Amino acid sequence: MCGIVGYVGSKNAQDFLISGLKRLEYRGYDSAGIVTLAEDGTATLLRAKGKISNLEEKLAKNKRNDKIGIGHTRWATHGEPSEKNAHPHQAGEIYLVHNGIIENYKELKQQLKEHEFKSETDSEVLAALINSFYKDGKHPLINAVVQALKLAKGTYGIAVVSKLSPDEIVVARSGSPLVIGVGHGETMIASDASALLGHTKQAIYLNDGEVAMIKKDSVEIKTLNAEPVSAKVEEIETNLSAIQKGGYDHFLLKEIMEQPESLNETLRGRVNTEDGTVRLGGPGLTENQLRQIKHLIIVGCGTAYHAGLLASYYIEKITPEITIEPVIASEYRYRQSYIPEDSVALIVSQSGETADTLACLREIKKQGVTTIGIVNAIGSTIAREVDGGTYVHVGPEISVASTKAFTSQVIAMVMFGMTIAQAKGVRTSVLRPYVDEIAKLPEVIRETLESVHEKVKDVAGKYASYEHGIYLGRDTAYPTAMEGALKLKEISYVDANAYAFGELKHGPLALIDDRFFEFALLPKGELYDKAISNVQEVLARGGHVIAVTNEKKFDLPVDDVINLTAESEIFAPILMNLVSQLFAYYMTVAKGYDVDQPRNLAKSVTVE
Ligand code: G6P
Repeated sequence: MCGIVGYVGSKNAQDFLISGLKRLEYRGYDSAGIVTLAEDGTATLLRAKGKISNLEEKLAKNKRNDKIGIGHTRWATHGEPSEKNAHPHQAGEIYLVHNGIIENYKELKQQLKEHEFKSETDSEVLAALINSFYKDGKHPLINAVVQALKLAKGTYGIAVVSKLSPDEIVVARSGSPLVIGVGHGETMIASDASALLGHTKQAIYLNDGEVAMIKKDSVEIKTLNAEPVSAKVEEIETNLSAIQKGGYDHFLLKEIMEQPESLNETLRGRVNTEDGTVRLGGPGLTENQLRQIKHLIIVGCGTAYHAGLLASYYIEKITPEITIEPVIASEYRYRQSYIPEDSVALIVSQSGETADTLACLREIKKQGVTTIGIVNAIGSTIAREVDGGTYVHVGPEISVASTKAFTSQVIAMVMFGMTIAQAKGVRTSVLRPYVDEIAKLPEVIRETLESVHEKVKDVAGKYASYEHGIYLGRDTAYPTAMEGALKLKEISYVDANAYAFGELKHGPLALIDDRFFEFALLPKGELYDKAISNVQEVLARGGHVIAVTNEKKFDLPVDDVINLTAESEIFAPILMNLVSQLFAYYMTVAKGYDVDQPRNLAKSVTVE
């Protein structure tokens, strides 16, 4: 989604801004822009539709040695992607970049008759509003920003500069992240700490309702009500290598292939194979509190929701006297759900910034329910607002399509379920197989990725001309099928949907013809024979079936079989999901689309 960067110091601001924006490209965007100010206040504004390379072409003809500036990648919400709608937006002497949505922009716009609007954006309204209080520099910039923000409804992360004070950037946040990087004689800002890597490791995370005046060697923070805030400087944990491709053609492939290591990070210090237990310190619940949990709500969007759904199947198998409600955040936040006593909510999010998930967290907290984060991004808003949590520690996930986060989210939630089961006195003999399988899962994932890779690549090449796919599974393989279909549609634009095998007869069977392929997930186990009967129903109607199975005796006359040889009885669906991830990757490569930045999508969805 939209990205913000900013710089004030003694180096070339244009260079910093462009490299910072490139770091944020992964979030998804459709236009970009920067403005820098010379010492005398002369502004150089450059904006371009499309990729940052288009902006760089303009930059080549407009090189400046300015030492202060702000930049933005835009993901259109109000107004089409175009140069005039790209940020920064100018009003009078000021320039503004904005992430988020100003909900009352229409009302505000009516009162701003003096400003001649050039774009269709809500952000320009905010720029004009700030300018109306700034009165050409008669008030300090920060005061004008505060007055304007008191009238603005909605979400924002903003950065503002003025030609009249070309040594300061004013930033503020409400609902959209903003990080301030503290360097030596230079200060940087970004909506995502990855843009700061290589420049500084010291960061201040702004909180909602805070505004800051930033100069090259000072940061002054206060609330919108003018109360001073003492800045807490934190260490950025990510390394530069973690946000580079490391020899792979795409971040997506790198992230798929690094799952043995990323899952190891999730498990580190949390699994004890000697006594057959798991231990999670982060949730901070006592044995007694764990024992009392009767109802678990799992909230997420997209892949995080699928992870919650899959985890719910596992948790209910091992944890007695518990009902689990996995919910889509954008729906749940507006429902009138009754949350019973003894509930705990798991808030699942890779980025920790997803607007709908965050809104649910706040609603649920208001009802006095304990919230536990299953989050990847350290220091993110969700991670900071939950009562307790378990970081999945998979490192930065750059590709828009989520892969390694999914695997670790599922396992982290299963482990949370196991801590409840342990507290409720479930016998070790029940939990032991889970502990053992989780402990060996990183290695089994490694073996699987190696052994299926070439086969999946071949099969994907064969189906590259298809535009429709049906993913099928039962039990734990059903949420896995949903995740597989999501992966395929989001990057290869194939119209892929998932169904529970048992639902085939209730509609989807009507679709089976030569335009469709069926991706059947067939783990061994109690429901294997029933799923096989369903595959036969598809074959009888001329379906094109790709079977993914760990059953060695599988012998149906399907079009293609992808066999899993590495063994995990319990987590076979997780291994099948690796196949789905690789399949989506190679289909997309074969179709020639942008793997890491699919059209219209964003990595971190910070607007509703
Ligand atoms: C976006 C991303 C998805 C992700 C979803 C939830 O749609 O493109 O990959 O699953 O947001 O994101 P979160 O950061 O909350 O896990």
